[in-house]
Amino acid sequence: MSHFRPELRQRAEETVALYPERRSAMLPLLHLAQEQDGYLTDEGMIEVAELTGTTPAEVRGTAAFYDMFHLEPVGKYVVGVCTNIACLLAGGEELLAHASETLGCAVGATSADGLFTLEETECLADCNIAPCVQVNHRFVRTTTPDALDALVADLRDGKREDEIPPHGTLIRVKRSGGLRVSRQQIADERTRERAAREERTAKEGQ
Ligand code: FES
Repeated sequence: MSHFRPELRQRAEETVALYPERRSAMLPLLHLAQEQDGYLTDEGMIEVAELTGTTPAEVRGTAAFYDMFHLEPVGKYVVGVCTNIACLLAGGEELLAHASETLGCAVGATSADGLFTLEETECLADCNIAPCVQVNHRFVRTTTPDALDALVADLRDGKREDEIPPHGTLIRVKRSGGLRVSRQQIADERTRERAAREERTAKEGQ
């Protein structure tokens, strides 16, 4: 039985079909798994392994390499405060300490109500609005303690849900047209590529 919800399972299968090698779909599939559960569960990673023809250990090893994937439960909102050089000079460390106080959790931890996880980040590439804060990978342009408190109050009250979806959601607009080519065409293309690769390898071995 699939761990993915039916619509996510369908999106996962369509995504796999887009790649010449199934394993190349691993990262987009991990994002789908994280979108469903908020973090990468064992069940989600097992399903990604099955879909990509890899092992759960390979999936876990890949996911562990990337900051955007979480292997443990996180809050509905992952708040990241940058303390890299531009943000450091603009008060990033002080804002991070303030965020820890406001959210009621240490850096790297999740608040008791499960709503927030606080992270210290490297440069988020928005250095001109420093110190830079992201929530669920959305820039929130919140540079002062007061602005951060207002943001947190809004999040607690559910007032920013249009702007900031729950953790794991990369984008809410989904491709609706399905694949523009049939699965058979993709399968044929894969077969041709595999044959060409084998032929080239055979020639190189002569
Ligand atoms: S140094 Fe903080 S966003 Fe670049």
